[in-house]
Amino acid sequence: MGDYTNMSAYYDVIMTSGYYDYKLIVDNLLEHEPYQHVLEIGCGTGLILEELAKRKHVESIMGVDLTQSMLSIAHERLKGFKNLTLSNQNVTELSLDKHYDLVFSYGGVWYFVIDGDREPFLVSHIADPVANEQGFAQLSKFMVKGSTLLLGIQGPHFDYEKAISNGMIYSQKIDPCEDGFIKHYYLADKGQNLMAQTVQYRTYDFKSAQKLLGTYGFEYQVESHKDKLFLRFIKVS
Ligand SMILES: C[S@@+](CC[C@H](N)C(=O)[O-])C[C@H]1O[C@@H](n2cnc3c(N)ncnc32)[C@H](O)[C@@H]1O
Repeated sequence: MGDYTNMSAYYDVIMTSGYYDYKLIVDNLLEHEPYQHVLEIGCGTGLILEELAKRKHVESIMGVDLTQSMLSIAHERLKGFKNLTLSNQNVTELSLDKHYDLVFSYGGVWYFVIDGDREPFLVSHIADPVANEQGFAQLSKFMVKGSTLLLGIQGPHFDYEKAISNGMIYSQKIDPCEDGFIKHYYLADKGQNLMAQTVQYRTYDFKSAQKLLGTYGFEYQVESHKDKLFLRFIKVS
């Protein structure tokens, strides 16, 4: 499973050193108004939810994440927002007390990678195929017909090393494996390793991804990906 415990203490500094553009992510979310009940799957330390809650008032925002240490940081960050709730859950056993009209995941449990002109492929933090089915089945229960599911778009992953804003060195290494890839994340300071984390990802080609999502009532909305950070699915049944 995509447990981020090792990385959690360093997550914010890595991600806000140019890994993700949180303002742009929320610009994209705001294009999908109107909505009043928003759910993020794999909300991590709450960086997207903070930007969203500051810029848009909705009736309720819920963030769900598997890794308690990521959520503890999110709790501290988001405690001032009264309409916002966090919950430590694996999406495969998702249990919520209401339905949501906008659900998104950006770099969270599921996302798409688009490499140039090639078809998007789905990347899942959940390596087991049956557990992926369970995740979409559970999610589907908490979305009304007509509601929107946005899954983030990222560029291809590759090996690299770079200095982040505090001078530490972040690096990542990708090893292909059966049905996906294994990604190793590292952080070092003055030659000393501070953090190492490994996550195994499952991938689905676009046809298989549409079939998987379609089984649980999510229909892909064909539109240009240009300048977009999400692929859009509508819950049709
Ligand atoms: C790369 S982080 C993304 C966090 C956040 N969306 C952001 O943009 O900063 C991925 C998050 O997904 C969570 N995650 C992975 N698998 C999960 C699962 N099966 N259920 C819930 N959360 C999961 C991890 O714990 C981690 O916090």
